[in-house]
Amino acid sequence: MMEADHEDGSYDRNKELKLLDETKAGVKGLVDAALTKLPKIFVHDNHKVNVSSSSSSSSATNVSIPVIDLGSLHEEGNSRHEIVQKVKDAGEKWGFFQVLNHKIPQSILDEMLDGMRKFHEQDAEVKRKFYSRDITKRVFYNTNFNFYTTSEVNWRDTLYCLLAPGPLDPHQLPSICRDVIIEYLDHVKKLALTLLELLSEALGLEGNYLKDIDCAEGIFMVGNYYPPCPQPELTWGLSAHTDMGFVTILLQDQVGGLQVFHENQWFDITPFPDAFIIILGDMMQLITNDKFMSAKHRVVAQKVGPRVSVSCSLRQHVQDECQRMYEPIKELVTKENPPIYKEMKMPDLVKLVYTTKLDYDVSSPLKHFRL
Ligand code: OGA
Ligand code: NI
Repeated sequence: MMEADHEDGSYDRNKELKLLDETKAGVKGLVDAALTKLPKIFVHDNHKVNVSSSSSSSSATNVSIPVIDLGSLHEEGNSRHEIVQKVKDAGEKWGFFQVLNHKIPQSILDEMLDGMRKFHEQDAEVKRKFYSRDITKRVFYNTNFNFYTTSEVNWRDTLYCLLAPGPLDPHQLPSICRDVIIEYLDHVKKLALTLLELLSEALGLEGNYLKDIDCAEGIFMVGNYYPPCPQPELTWGLSAHTDMGFVTILLQDQVGGLQVFHENQWFDITPFPDAFIIILGDMMQLITNDKFMSAKHRVVAQKVGPRVSVSCSLRQHVQDECQRMYEPIKELVTKENPPIYKEMKMPDLVKLVYTTKLDYDVSSPLKHFRL
């Protein structure tokens, strides 16, 4: 079906992209068609380079990914202080940690992952109605949000839902996962506020600081579906990137494949069934003036699958109600540590990431906001 190759060996990349886009069936559609060889658009030139630089994993070193147990958060004694200290360490050194005992029932996590899988596996005709590249829509699905700008098309389809700020009409959500998204959102909002409190305290600020500057006003949910890949050595599930928002609350299933970059090495994130992965994003790095870092991460393509993940990013989007200005927090800058970034608003960063060819191996989108 992907026939854009010319006889002389050259090929029309744009035509091949359009052919796949117009099927509105994404990568899942290719897998359903029993494809055994990857279309050229998925083959990454620098893949071998990337893999060879990633030979180290957590098993090769004594470093372990921070895991923070929130179970004792409200107990008497020193435990809150200890948790805040761990969040501070993780924020400064990794921009990344896992949390356990977050109080969201296991059944909700399982139902959310299942609902997302069902969305991507439902009847192609129903799913096709959601296919779009109009980023002003609140709910849509496509393959690779940066399909036409990146040189690295990935083996992944995604459902996007801007859940907050409102008003969200629940009828815009796909009926197959509507109820579970609404229930999940309710729980995730509470966890988000807990995390913002801990992060505020870890920065030496009042507990409500990050909430009061609207860090939890926007919630952008992304449901990723990574079908099994016939030639995983040629492509990525999701290329190395940082997340745009303040904080991402990520739920993954048990398949694995997520890796995080730390001190020049890639670490495999072993799935825990009851954990959330917390990733600090570019906006957090910007408002903390580089005190906290935005963690680079990626997902490998695999023969096994599908793999499903659901990420809720605390971030605003491109809508009119998302125009709040941000800059490094005054309390965190001093004469010795002057602001690194200029004042900006989130939609500027979102539009940049959606429309620019970015290479996270060499730089970060934050460089566009440096003073
Ligand atoms: C993302 C992301 C990781 C995953 O959606 O930004 O990094 O495990 N997802 O799917
Ligand atoms: Ni991410």
